[in-house]
Amino acid sequence: MPSLHQATRGRLLFGGDYNPEQWPRAVWTEDVRLMREAGVNLATVGVFSWALLEPRPGEYDFGWFDDVLELLHDNGIGVALATPTASAPPWMHHRWPDTSPQDKDRTVRTYGSRNAYCPSSAVYRRFADAISTQLADRYAHHPALRMWHIGNEFGTVCYCDSCAAAFRQWLQTKYTDLDRLNEAWGTRFWSQHYGEWEEVIPPRKVQYVINPVQELDYQRFASDLLLDGFRAERDIVAARNPEIPVVTNFMGFFKGTDAWQWVREEDFASLDSYPDPNDPFGACAGAFAQDLTRSLGHESRGGGWIMMEQSTGSVGWRRVSTPKPPGLYRLWSMQAVARGADGVLQFQWRASQQGAERTHSGMIPHAGPNSRVFREVVEVGKELESLSDVLGTKVAADVAIIVDWDAWRAVELDHQPDERFKYVDRLYEYYKQLWRANITCDFVRAEGDLSRYRLVLAPNIYQITDAASRNLERYVEAGRTLVVGPFSGVTDPDERVRLGGYPGSLRELLGIRIEEYWPFEDHVDLRVSSPRFGDFTAHGWAEWFDLDTTSADAVAKIEGGPLDGHPAVLRNSYGSGTAWYVATLPEDAALGRLLRTIATDSGVAPVLPIFPKMWRRCGAATVYSCSTTGHGKWRCAMNDQARSGRTARRSASTIGLDILHVRGLAFPCTTFRGGCGRVRDSVEALHRQPPGPTREGHCSW
Ligand code: GLA
Ligand code: GLA
Repeated sequence: MPSLHQATRGRLLFGGDYNPEQWPRAVWTEDVRLMREAGVNLATVGVFSWALLEPRPGEYDFGWFDDVLELLHDNGIGVALATPTASAPPWMHHRWPDTSPQDKDRTVRTYGSRNAYCPSSAVYRRFADAISTQLADRYAHHPALRMWHIGNEFGTVCYCDSCAAAFRQWLQTKYTDLDRLNEAWGTRFWSQHYGEWEEVIPPRKVQYVINPVQELDYQRFASDLLLDGFRAERDIVAARNPEIPVVTNFMGFFKGTDAWQWVREEDFASLDSYPDPNDPFGACAGAFAQDLTRSLGHESRGGGWIMMEQSTGSVGWRRVSTPKPPGLYRLWSMQAVARGADGVLQFQWRASQQGAERTHSGMIPHAGPNSRVFREVVEVGKELESLSDVLGTKVAADVAIIVDWDAWRAVELDHQPDERFKYVDRLYEYYKQLWRANITCDFVRAEGDLSRYRLVLAPNIYQITDAASRNLERYVEAGRTLVVGPFSGVTDPDERVRLGGYPGSLRELLGIRIEEYWPFEDHVDLRVSSPRFGDFTAHGWAEWFDLDTTSADAVAKIEGGPLDGHPAVLRNSYGSGTAWYVATLPEDAALGRLLRTIATDSGVAPVLPIFPKMWRRCGAATVYSCSTTGHGKWRCAMNDQARSGRTARRSASTIGLDILHVRGLAFPCTTFRGGCGRVRDSVEALHRQPPGPTREGHCSW
């Protein structure tokens, strides 16, 4: 079974997308020299090379590509070889216009950009398979080859007739006969009953609101259709050399492709990560996607994950594209390693001089290697080399957050009670509290194995299967703790509302019965009283309970207004465990108190409970993750100013502690930047101290 180990070969991967076709050959020579200087050991090539590799249909030109691979290999640099299928050449769209995708209103997305292909087009598939075959035949045993990189950021959705036919086929597999489709889609509503399969079409542009299950099924189908394309190319390249791992790059919380399904088809997981340097919680946003990717890696065929893309500085596509201030690129690179990544790659090696992304930063900026960015690149490369001991280590988490693509798709369908209710926002609000408290967290499937976690959070699980509901019950019954957020348990996988009071299949587990959901406008602050957690304000959302049959303890209640006296937070004993229900959106600090208390009660501890003195003086130290390995115990800490509540500007100028790596009780020197000085402290003291507040401060715990 191919795995990430075959790619890493004892070193953390470092490098990035390399597009030599954009440069004269003289530059290639400089490229490899500078790659060596920077410790680059992996270059991703070919991602957008299709038009040059196959300048005319069926006519290939691999000469230049042979040279690129040879040059890299001669310089000791491995290759992630992409099937170049994300961007089809103009000849394809020009000669076969049906290979271009159509919008919901049948507008054609024409060529001149990228990702403009119809994923169900037989012509596109034929050419995509052919170029993949050519590449595999030629390079599957090339000594530089470390991994295959299939396509790029799969996500194109098309609504053309060919996709309509593929959709019908998908539906026939799912429902077998039309009666079952009619039943599942609820077509008695608004006279939508289908009499012939041919009548069934994608959820194209309509006069009013679309059938929700037609939309939902299309989203499921679109993900599956792209996955078919991934599989086709994967199987072609894998057949030529089964030793080489195959992967594609995920975009973190991307709704278009169900990452749980996809990752099972991959040899490991990877992430393209672009947090905004202007976001004071940029490190948290990055960690959020990284922890998801690490968790996805657990479900992949070979395990593990890498950061496939990040930027050294500004990106091309943001409204305001601020570069990363000195140290931030390094900090966020080390963050990925701290969260379990076995490689840190960037988009891209050399900033493009031309093309749509000419303003996107590179490892070599437009200014050239004599630049602060390249110097930081070299520094990061060196540092990664020195950290190869962490390779393959496992990050341990006692807490997991449930992420479910169907719940996500369904809760954001049309005609929900609150269009501001966004699935990923709900997850992020909970995640952020754990991050602030230094609690490492995984993500899990709703039907996945929860038994290894002490605490599971489901910040929202609006649509839920019966199997997932039972999974949660079994988990709590066995003595564990579950927290469920608002607007959960509402519908089944056919988006059928579960009747008899919300939250349908979770009523018994949570000991509650809700009659109505009660969103309200932004300007209304909900007052909530709680002797246990302190009074707080909540926003946007409340729920009307049937107070007679709700048996869970209301530990926080709404005060005033039409919902006066209704619960905001409830606790229910179920089997040997505890199930919490949070029926509103508490203000940040209150949610933090709540989750920290529940975590403590569940036996969950932060990675390092106590701040060393120096960190505290810096104003913001934080521990990220703890990895246990055959090499012993590692603890990684990063000084991210956001946790101290400082402003973005201040944060940017005082980026501090980089990575603290602790092996056993040894404590290598750690450098603080931004005027904080240099510490050579001993973490031994830290470990010896009993938990609880000390003179050195207690991490807001
Ligand atoms: C209109 C329509 C109804 C129903 C309601 C509620 O009044 O006539 O069929 O759709 O809106 O949305
Ligand atoms: C994505 C793509 C890259 C590049 C970067 C930067 O991650 O995969 O090709 O476009 O974004 O914008």
